[in-house]
Amino acid sequence: MDIVAGVSISRDLRQRLAEARNVFVLTGAGISAESGVPTFRGGGSSLVWKGMPFEIISSAGMLERNLPEVWEWFDYRRNLLQSVEPNAGHLAIASWQDRFQTVSVVTQNIDGLHQKAGSREVIELHGSIWRARCTTCRARYQIWQYEGRECVSCGDPLRPDVVLFGEMLPAGAFEMASEKAVAADVCFVVGTSAIVYPAAGLPEIARSSGAFLVEINPERTPLSDYCDEVLTGKAGELIPALL
Ligand code: OAD
Repeated sequence: MDIVAGVSISRDLRQRLAEARNVFVLTGAGISAESGVPTFRGGGSSLVWKGMPFEIISSAGMLERNLPEVWEWFDYRRNLLQSVEPNAGHLAIASWQDRFQTVSVVTQNIDGLHQKAGSREVIELHGSIWRARCTTCRARYQIWQYEGRECVSCGDPLRPDVVLFGEMLPAGAFEMASEKAVAADVCFVVGTSAIVYPAAGLPEIARSSGAFLVEINPERTPLSDYCDEVLTGKAGELIPALL
């Protein structure tokens, strides 16, 4: 056992990391917590907008009823994110690219902080707050390039290019993430409550294909008992100290 950031790291994990070629990292809101982005659950900071819990305002039903309100909510969140920077956790994961053959980052976050930190291979399971897409023809726009709310191709309304409650994941995203999970030698699950499927199924896919499964979270989750190693602490403190 080694002690890192006050947490014991097993010899087994050290050995696995020394030999690993493909590393898979599934992240959730907790990886961005130390950048100042509130998580969805826990910590008493549940997101509420005009009295509506996020499950209501971020839902497919609300999109149908009141698209401008959904835009207002995502504009508000995007404005908050403008000034947010990646933290030591995001940066350390990006630096792993120099160390391992592949580092696949699969995130449930829409904040773009992994890319901002320099991670090249990022699968965004829940879309991106920095993009809009057409409600009809599926044309996509980077919001910093085009701030309009109508599609340039077909004139129909644009919507945030994010997955809302009651919607499917972007076509192919989960399949691509599953392929990476199957190939993983070590799989890290960082800062997710691991209860929102299908994302929460990826660690099981990785482990049943032979990966060593490690959870990094200050709290226990439904996945903790299934992991080979649970590192109890903050992502921004533990991840940089791992290698
Ligand atoms: P949650 O808010 O459900 O969980 C955040 C997790 O991060 C919790 O387990 C915390 O204990 C942990 N955490 C907090 N601070 C941390 C830190 N400094 N370092 C490491 N972990 C920390 O967020 P997600 O699991 O990402 O989906 O939520 C999954 C999905 O639920 C979201 O993508 C969103 C939401 O519905 C959609 O919007 C479609």
